Amino acid sequence: MKRELIKNLISKEDGSEVCLSGWVDSKRDLGNLIFIYLRDISGLVQIVFDPEKVKVVWEKSRNLKPEWVIRIKGNLSFRPGENVLEKHSTGNIEVLASELEILNDSKILPYELKEGEKIKEELRLKYRYLDLRRTELKDNIVFRSEIFYRLREFLHKEGFIEIETPILIKSTPEGARDFIVPSRNFPKKFYALPQSPQLLKQLLQVAGFEKYYQMARCFRDEDLRADRQPEFTQLDIEMSFIEMDDIIEMVERLVNYVLKEVLNINLKIPIQRISYHDAMEKYGTDKPDVRFELLLEDFTNDFKEIDFKILQTVIDSGNRIRGLRLEDIDYFSRKRIDLLTNELKSFGIPGMIYIKRKNNEISSSIKKFLTEDIISKLNIKDGETILILAGSDDLINPALSYLRNKLGRELNLVKDDLAFLWVVDFPLLEFDSDSNTWTYKHHPFTQPFEPEKLMKGDDLAGIKARAYDLILNGEEVAGGSIRNHDIQVQKQIFETMNIPEEIYMKQFGFLLEALEFGAPPHGGIAFGMARLIASLIGIENIRNVMAFPKTTSGNCLMTGAPDSVSAEQLHELKIKILKNEKE
Ligand code: AMO
Repeated sequence: MKRELIKNLISKEDGSEVCLSGWVDSKRDLGNLIFIYLRDISGLVQIVFDPEKVKVVWEKSRNLKPEWVIRIKGNLSFRPGENVLEKHSTGNIEVLASELEILNDSKILPYELKEGEKIKEELRLKYRYLDLRRTELKDNIVFRSEIFYRLREFLHKEGFIEIETPILIKSTPEGARDFIVPSRNFPKKFYALPQSPQLLKQLLQVAGFEKYYQMARCFRDEDLRADRQPEFTQLDIEMSFIEMDDIIEMVERLVNYVLKEVLNINLKIPIQRISYHDAMEKYGTDKPDVRFELLLEDFTNDFKEIDFKILQTVIDSGNRIRGLRLEDIDYFSRKRIDLLTNELKSFGIPGMIYIKRKNNEISSSIKKFLTEDIISKLNIKDGETILILAGSDDLINPALSYLRNKLGRELNLVKDDLAFLWVVDFPLLEFDSDSNTWTYKHHPFTQPFEPEKLMKGDDLAGIKARAYDLILNGEEVAGGSIRNHDIQVQKQIFETMNIPEEIYMKQFGFLLEALEFGAPPHGGIAFGMARLIASLIGIENIRNVMAFPKTTSGNCLMTGAPDSVSAEQLHELKIKILKNEKE
C-alpha cells in the first residue's frame, strides 16, 4: 500500500485505510489504549493502538519510544468538534492502527526537542539534524524552499537564464577576506572561493546573456554577526541595456510576485526611496527600520550659547549634537537612562545627556547649564524626554541608530508590517583615514553618476554612485548597482583608490580586457537570501533559516569543520605548518 503524507489525510473519507510513515513524536500509555503522535515532514497526527482492534499490534506499540521510526497501517476516524492539536489541520483526525512496523529505533535524544530555544545553542548546533526536526525550524526551511521556487518561477517567466559560475576562482577581493584553496597541480598557487559572482556575472553580460540569474553560494571570511555567515546564498541578478530604474522596477515586481504567491500579501509599489544622505540624517544608518517614525533631530543650533565646555568643544570642532525626542516619560527612569548610557559605551560614546519635562519641571543631566533660552529653543513639551549625543557623525550615528531601534522595540513603536525601502544616491567613494586613501562604498565596479568629475578628480566626496540597497525592516536584504562598461572610468576608479596599475591589472585585468570587446551597459543586484527570509519571518538570527549554519566563530559544531588535514594531504599540496603556530 502506498504511503500517504499526514497533511493529505484531511481530504480522505472517514474510515478509509491509510499507510503512514514517520517518527514517534510523543506517546501516552493509558493502560488499555496507547496513543502516539506520528510526525512526518507535513504534520502530526494521532495514532491509536487499541487491544480490541489488533492485539499483537497493540502489544508491539507498548515498546515504542519517542523518535523511533515506524510505518503503520490503519483506518481514519474523524472526531468532529474535537481539536486536540489546534495548530495542525489533522487535529480532528486519528488513525486506528491495524499494522505496525518498526523501521528503526532511536537512542534517547541529547535534549528534549520541545524545549526548543531554551536549550543551549551549541548543543542544538552539534545535533542540528535533530534540531531540524522541530516544527519552527523545519517550517523555516520549507518556507525558504517555497520562496526560492517562486523567485525562480518569476525569473524564468521574465526570460532570465540561470547560469552557474565556478566556486574555484581567482582571488578578486570585494571588501571581505577571501577563503583560499591550495592547488595541488600548481604548488604555491591558490584558488579563492567567490565572495560573490560579481565579475563573472559581468563577464556573462559581455558574453551576451542579457538576463542572468543564479542562486549563488558566496563565501566571505569576515567577522560574523547575527546577520552574517561565512557561507551564504545570494539570488544574484545581472541585466544588460538597462538603467537603475529598470532594475528597481523589475525587483519590485519580483518581490511583489513572491509575496503574493507565498504569503498572499500585496506589496505597496513603488517602494519608497530615500537618499543615503537623508537616511543618515533621519535615522543615523543606511538601513533604517521605517516601521516606525522616531526621527533623529539636530539640536546643535539650540546649544550654540551653552556654557558647558564639552558641548562647546563639540560645536567648535564642527561636530554636532543630535538625539531623539520621546514621549513615554515613565520609561525613562534614572536607572533606565544609566543602563542605556552604559550600553552606548560599546560604541565609544562617553556619555548621553537627557532632558525631561514632567509636570512642567525640567530634569536633566546638564540642568545647571540649561538656560530658559535653550529650553525654549529645544521646544520640549510636558511629558517629553530628549536623549542627546554629541560628537562627529561617524561616532554618534551608529549609537543613535542603535538607540532608535532599541527604543522603537521597547516602547512598542514598531508596527507589525513589512516595510521595504530603497536607499539610493550613495557616495561612490569614501575617504579612509587609516590608509589615507579613497576607497569604494559599494564595490569598485559601480558606475558614478558624474564620471567627468571622477576623471578630473573633482569633488570626489560629492560623486554619487548608481547604486541601490533594498532594506526590509531595518535589514539590508539586497544591494546592487549599474557597472562601469567604459574601461577608462573603471581604470580611473582603481587609480583614484591609489591601486597601482600592476596590482589592478593582476587582479582584475581579465575584466578590464573584456570591457574592450564590446561590453554592453549593464547592472544588477543580489539578494542575501537568508536575510530576506529571516526578515520576512521576523527573526533576527539568519542561522534559523539555514539548514547547516556555522557558529559566530565560523565553525560547524556538527561536523567539526574546520579541521586539520593529514600530513600526506599537506605534503601533496607542498604546505608546511609553522611549528610554533597554535593548532
Ligand atoms: P553585497 O556585498 O551588498 O553585494 O551583498 C548582497 C547581499 O548579500 C547579503 N550578504 C550576506 N548575507 C549573509 N551573510 C553575509 N556574510 C553576507 N554578506 C552579504 C546581504 C547583501 O545585501 N556583488 C554584489 C551585488 C551586486 O552589486 O549585484 C554583492 O555581493 O543581504
